[in-house]
Amino acid sequence: MKSPPPPPPPSPLDPQGLSDRERYQLLTSLVVPRPIGWISTRSPEGTPNLAPFSYFAALSSTPFLVGASIGARRGQPKDTLRNIRASGAFCVNICSEDLLEAMNASSAEVAAEVDEFALAGVTPVEGEAVAAPRVAEAPACLECTLFREVPLGGGANVLVIGEVRRVHLSPRLVLLPGSFLVDPWSLKPVARLGGDRYALLREIRDLPRPGVG
Ligand SMILES: Cc1cc2nc3c(=O)[nH]c(=O)nc-3n(C[C@H](O)[C@H](O)[C@H](O)COP(=O)(O)O)c2cc1C
Repeated sequence: MKSPPPPPPPSPLDPQGLSDRERYQLLTSLVVPRPIGWISTRSPEGTPNLAPFSYFAALSSTPFLVGASIGARRGQPKDTLRNIRASGAFCVNICSEDLLEAMNASSAEVAAEVDEFALAGVTPVEGEAVAAPRVAEAPACLECTLFREVPLGGGANVLVIGEVRRVHLSPRLVLLPGSFLVDPWSLKPVARLGGDRYALLREIRDLPRPGVG
């Protein structure tokens, strides 16, 4: 026997009537697919740190800015935020399909002394322009200095904005002729959906913009 169709979702919803978890579930399953900023830092004690952030976006190309929103853990800043505050630096590594499991492994909630590069099985290389390690295996990396820290609401989440100081591109990447457009088939990016789901690039459509020459 066929099961009955699912009931339509309640709508409209007043977000004030929802729990933190319900808002999180809605936001992270509606705003999809989200790029992942795989952020690497170094602690004041010298431990390399690595964790993914999908509250992540490109913000501006002039100035050259990216941003990630970092939540608190049991009321305390996560190691990534603590390290960025101490060093003023971080690297945003681009996660490709072959690094999906490593990226996920690096999200483990472990003590600050744990080297998450080792946990994820990837290799740290010191940044050229900033005091933070980057992931050698990543197809690309943006070395950033802290441009601004913006507390969001009560400070449970903090938006860190980084200014890109160096761009690393793997020799495996292909640039579209005469440009700095990276061929997405050579990048093979992964993106986050709601819950534990990820999206991989499988179809691309070309659509010229009207009136833009
Ligand atoms: C794909 C993915 C995306 C994530 N995005 C975020 C995010 O945007 N903000 C956040 O605070 N935590 C996010 N997390 C959880 C952090 O990666 C996790 O809390 C991590 O342990 C933080 O590491 P740290 O304490 O070394 O900074 C995400 C986890 C995964 C797997």
